[in-house]
Amino acid sequence: MSLAEYRPGLADVPAAESAISDIDGKNARLLYRGFPVEVLARESTFEETAWLLLKGELPRQKELADFDAQLRQRRALHFRMTDMFKALPATGHPMDALQASVAALGMFHSTREVSDPAGNWESCLRILASVPTLVATFHRVRLGLEPLAPRDDLDHAGNLGYMLTGKEPSPAVRKVLDACLILHAEHQMNASTFAARVVGSTLADPYRVISAAVGALAGPLHGGANEEVLDMLEVIGSAANARAWFENAVATKGKIMGFGHRVYKVKDPRATVLQDLAEHVFAETSRPRSYDTALELEKVALPVLGAKGIHPNVDFFSGIVYQSLGIPKDIFTPLFAIARTAGWLAHWLEQVGGNRLFRPEQIYKGYAERKYVSLDERA
Ligand code: SDX
Repeated sequence: MSLAEYRPGLADVPAAESAISDIDGKNARLLYRGFPVEVLARESTFEETAWLLLKGELPRQKELADFDAQLRQRRALHFRMTDMFKALPATGHPMDALQASVAALGMFHSTREVSDPAGNWESCLRILASVPTLVATFHRVRLGLEPLAPRDDLDHAGNLGYMLTGKEPSPAVRKVLDACLILHAEHQMNASTFAARVVGSTLADPYRVISAAVGALAGPLHGGANEEVLDMLEVIGSAANARAWFENAVATKGKIMGFGHRVYKVKDPRATVLQDLAEHVFAETSRPRSYDTALELEKVALPVLGAKGIHPNVDFFSGIVYQSLGIPKDIFTPLFAIARTAGWLAHWLEQVGGNRLFRPEQIYKGYAERKYVSLDERA
């Protein structure tokens, strides 16, 4: 294998053929099955967008109504799942609880045979419906509170907000949460989606696939960045400190969390929509200081990082929106996972629909064959 074919991080290497989403990184375009994400965030709902990603077309009215009802019917957890959460350390990270509990969920429902389309669809419904309940149940249990049962009278975003906070979100807050779920639902061949496809290519069941994807998303270079951004903004402290902090970061070759992207070389279109959403939320809540710090950091970073194609990505503003909705910082990435479950499942269906086991090659850099030396002969 010649070195020229090796690309670190598989940069620019197609890993699959897919019809689910497409990104134009130079022109800040993201299409879900051909529809611009900013249009879906404005006009659609998470349920409708999830159907679009899974099925390839916008649903007709009855399809959407049935899909919505089927999700609502599958939100509740087996009581042993709650017992499991009570056995986990309350100080553990909610992404670890989610990764563990998705795999555990499969022990109650998994159809191991993934060649059955009806069984695969049932798994998609169950997993998509359950992940908000898994996240919210661990969150309530770690606070020493009884979990809240899902409310069938609320849609996906409304029920998520209710189970997390104990309060039914206002229509404006529900709409913002719903738009955030749409914006985070799918993003082509990102690391966690690639992980999902690799595990799915072994014909492992979808609960194991999604559990693996959650693990990949948790990393600070990927979905974990939204939490890191808030930590960074808290360290900066105020807009007045942004320039000095940035200059020091550049001097010490530090990473500016929430900036940069393997594909986008301009501002991530989702960051732009999230910024608009943030302004809407502040009308209902108060404008956090972290937002002004973020705006100033973006301003001082642009002349230096912008020239290198490093701009704000989806994670730069998402945490600020969630924080202003009163959502705890370590729940930001679980929210990302709740949304991206739609994209992961769509890629899983596509993978098993035309599967070949992922087994890439490597460039061997180790020893040539050599003779074993017994222990007493070794120096
Ligand atoms: C997500 O792939 C997806 O689609 C992911 C995602 C999705 O929806 O699934 O969009 C969600 O994960 C968004 C990204 C969130 N992560 C962060 O915000 C963490 C900070 N960003 C960087 O770590 C970085 O930009 C990556 C990991 C996102 C992308 O890195 P690449 O493509 O591997 O590029 P690189 O790390 O090789 O950097 C190239 C150059 C380097 O400089 P040189 O060594 O060549 O001089 O750009 C510099 C890097 O130092 N650089 C940065 C930077 N990002 C890249 N310098 C400072 N701050 C940054 N954030």
